[in-house]
Amino acid sequence: MAGNGTIVGSEKLVKVYDTGSVKVEALRGVDLNVNRGEMVAIMGPSGCGKTTLLNCLSGLDEPTSGKVLIEGTDLAKMKDNQRTEYRARNMGFVFQFYNLLPVLTAVENVEMVLLLSGVRSRDARARAERALEVVGLKGLEKHRPAQLSGGQRQRVTLARALVNEPKIVWADEPTGDLDKRNSNEVMSLMQELNSKLKMTFVIVTHDPDVASRCRRIIHMEDGLIVKDVPITEKDALLHPRGGDYSTCGEKDRGAARISIEQQGSL
Ligand SMILES: Nc1ncnc2c1ncn2[C@@H]1O[C@H](COP(=O)(O)OP(=O)(O)O)[C@@H](O)[C@H]1O
Ligand SMILES: [Mg+2]
Repeated sequence: MAGNGTIVGSEKLVKVYDTGSVKVEALRGVDLNVNRGEMVAIMGPSGCGKTTLLNCLSGLDEPTSGKVLIEGTDLAKMKDNQRTEYRARNMGFVFQFYNLLPVLTAVENVEMVLLLSGVRSRDARARAERALEVVGLKGLEKHRPAQLSGGQRQRVTLARALVNEPKIVWADEPTGDLDKRNSNEVMSLMQELNSKLKMTFVIVTHDPDVASRCRRIIHMEDGLIVKDVPITEKDALLHPRGGDYSTCGEKDRGAARISIEQQGSL
């Protein structure tokens, strides 16, 4: 059952891909609740259904049966345009197939999200520039993706995911193409956004180091959740986070953003 703190939940989520000759049961009855402000890692062998789960929870894909509740509303009962609008307003995506457009500059890639949701171009530009500053890319606004390193490109993707201040960010192997240093920096940034801006993160990863920086690790196998492990305070102390997670409210978002900028360490 979904409780008050739940931002997204699933009940008996099943997804069968029917390719004609074979049916693949990618999800076989997944019950999951993610609370507001959580930072969750999803791990498991390749092909166990992680991407399918993320796609179904975020409404990018439709489950074969079962339910997804977003802030208490049944995703299947929303009209298409409501779902799209909800996504545009409340969700950010750091997916590998959500690639940056090569012909656009960093700032244009980020502001596109806002322009598509009707923000005026001058405001969109200012917000996109601020988001790039938050992820440590001030001065690189006019660079095209090919002129940026892999780590910098992933930061542009993060800036694009956070520019509309989503409640929840879905990330599918966000550090998959990065070296250790860049991977650590991207993770620190996500921890910072989680702790200070209260954004909820659901992160699919193969990397135990990435998972250990989350507050909960869900293990999947063969279309099911087989283990759901909270990371204890003691474990968390080994991987210190940016700020106090429990005391930062909605109104602190702006202040937190400024302090992220002022630290200048990202
Ligand atoms: N569009 C699709 N059509 C058919 N089978 C698919 C499709 N997408 C995923 N699958 C299959 O569903 C299973 C789960 O895939 P996926 O969710 O991508 O796993 P993971 O992200 O954990 O690697 C795999 O067996 C995969 O081959
Ligand atoms: Mg996958």
